[in-house]
Amino acid sequence: MCGIIGYIGPNDATPYLIEGLKRMEYRGYDSAGVAVFDGEAIETRRAAGKIAKLEAALAIDPADGFVGIGHTRWATHGPPTERNAHPHLSADGTIAVVHNGIIENSGTLKAALQELGYEFRSDTDTEVLAHLIQELFEGSLEEAVINALRKVEGTYGMAVVSSRDPGKIVAARKGSPLLIGIGEGENFLASDPSAILAHTRQVVYLNDGDVAVIERDRYKVLDVDAMPQPRDVDRISWDLAAIERGGFAHFMLKEIFEQPTTVENAMRGRLILEDGTAKLGGINLSHEQLLNIDNVIITACGTSWHSALIGEMMIEELARIPVEVEYASEFRYKNPIVTERTLCIVISQSGETADTLAAMREAKRRGARTLGFVNVVGSTIAREDDGGVYLHAGPEIGVASTKAFTSQVVALALFTLKLARKRELSVTRGREIAQALHELPAKVQQVLDTAAKIEEIAEEFKRASNFLYLGRGYNFPGALEGALKLKEISYIHAEGYPAAEMKHGPIALIDEMMPVVFIAPHDAVFDKVVSNIHEVKARKGKTIVITSRDEPALKGLVDYEIRIPETVDMLMPILAAVPLQLLAYYIAVKRGSNVDQPRNLAKSVTVE
Ligand code: M6R
Repeated sequence: MCGIIGYIGPNDATPYLIEGLKRMEYRGYDSAGVAVFDGEAIETRRAAGKIAKLEAALAIDPADGFVGIGHTRWATHGPPTERNAHPHLSADGTIAVVHNGIIENSGTLKAALQELGYEFRSDTDTEVLAHLIQELFEGSLEEAVINALRKVEGTYGMAVVSSRDPGKIVAARKGSPLLIGIGEGENFLASDPSAILAHTRQVVYLNDGDVAVIERDRYKVLDVDAMPQPRDVDRISWDLAAIERGGFAHFMLKEIFEQPTTVENAMRGRLILEDGTAKLGGINLSHEQLLNIDNVIITACGTSWHSALIGEMMIEELARIPVEVEYASEFRYKNPIVTERTLCIVISQSGETADTLAAMREAKRRGARTLGFVNVVGSTIAREDDGGVYLHAGPEIGVASTKAFTSQVVALALFTLKLARKRELSVTRGREIAQALHELPAKVQQVLDTAAKIEEIAEEFKRASNFLYLGRGYNFPGALEGALKLKEISYIHAEGYPAAEMKHGPIALIDEMMPVVFIAPHDAVFDKVVSNIHEVKARKGKTIVITSRDEPALKGLVDYEIRIPETVDMLMPILAAVPLQLLAYYIAVKRGSNVDQPRNLAKSVTVE
């Protein structure tokens, strides 16, 4: 999704802008550009496609100066062309704007500006901002930006420079993240900490409604009435090396292989084996509040929604509290039943997903207590929730979520243990689950050790056009997740179903061309799944079966077997996720896909 970078200091801005944009490539984008004030005028360079094309344009026609802004765009209004790429210039060329988010009243503002004689050169909503700021400019860039924002409806993370008020970058945030990076005699602006981490770890996270004025030696944060706002300086603790590929062919593969560690990190210092429970410092819920929860709503998108489905089963089974899982994008347009005794759990790797953030705000507005299960520290959801559980998976760069998913399930299991032990769960059962969690990292490693076999299976199926993924109970969400992984990165059509639901429709698709992945460990519903495998074999489907034992019942039914270790049923989706991720990864690589940045997808979806 779109990325913003800004630099002001004693050095040439362009190399910093390009480096920052490259660091944000993982977020997904389809065009890029920079604007630099060269002492006389603002120079812009833009290119459709990858940043390499922008670099080529700059090599032919350099743009130098001590202050600049840059952007990677993920198209929302208008196709990904050079003319739609940011920065956008005002009609007189004195103001350049980069913008993440959507200006919802851009049509009305555009019509009004056209009446005043402004001509539009792009299809974007952002261009409206450039002309509007020009129209309202009376000498101070921040005043013009504030006055413009009073007329704007929608969401923005934006950065503006002007040749008529040079020596500053003005930034504003509403619904799209931005932070100031504080350097020595130089300052930065970014939408993502990774863009500036090579230069500074001191950052100020902007809040919604903030307008920041960033100069070379100082910065200030204002509200929409231009009143100064105190903001804390935070320190980023991530290591830059942690976001490099570390010898793996792709970030996704690196992140899959990190899972023994990330699963461990999600539990570190939290699991209390002897009491069969967990300690979760950030949830900010008293013993009474935990006891007084009437119902739980879990809301999320994509992969995080799949982990929510697993969380639902865990909480209902062990804590005996009714749980509903809602797509975040649907939640706020319903009239959900939320009371002050509703706990709303929000799950998000990035902590910035616009739909999820909006759902959390809606749940809060209706009186629910909100808990964020988030990976990115300091992200908007993490800062706005009432309490939370960080996933501690480290930066996830591959667009396809892998290690965040398994960490989410671990975090949900820990929370379930805590909640359930306060209610009905016996210490004996609690200990059994806690012990199973404790043993998970080594078991994840065991699954990873079978990667070569999974790669062989991928070779067999790399030309398939369709895939079906089936599982029951705790493994039904795992089937959805397996299908999502495959379609995201290999572009093969794939669907996940509860295994028994197959006979109500999808069975019509089964023939000798259809690979069917079964998640069939030795669990409470194993025998039922065996019947479903029979149904597929009877129709000549090809079966790839993920199972945990040498099962006589599977004899003659399995074309390709993937063996995973045993664990308690509720944690099985963690072990089953690993071969599903690897299968998707190897198939995608063999088909020549851009695994880390698959087409049309963004890592962080900050538009509705
Ligand atoms: O950052 P989030 O967890 O809120 O993101 C939610 C989805 O956009 C995300 O899981 C998406 O489905 C991934 N590409 C899945 O691999």
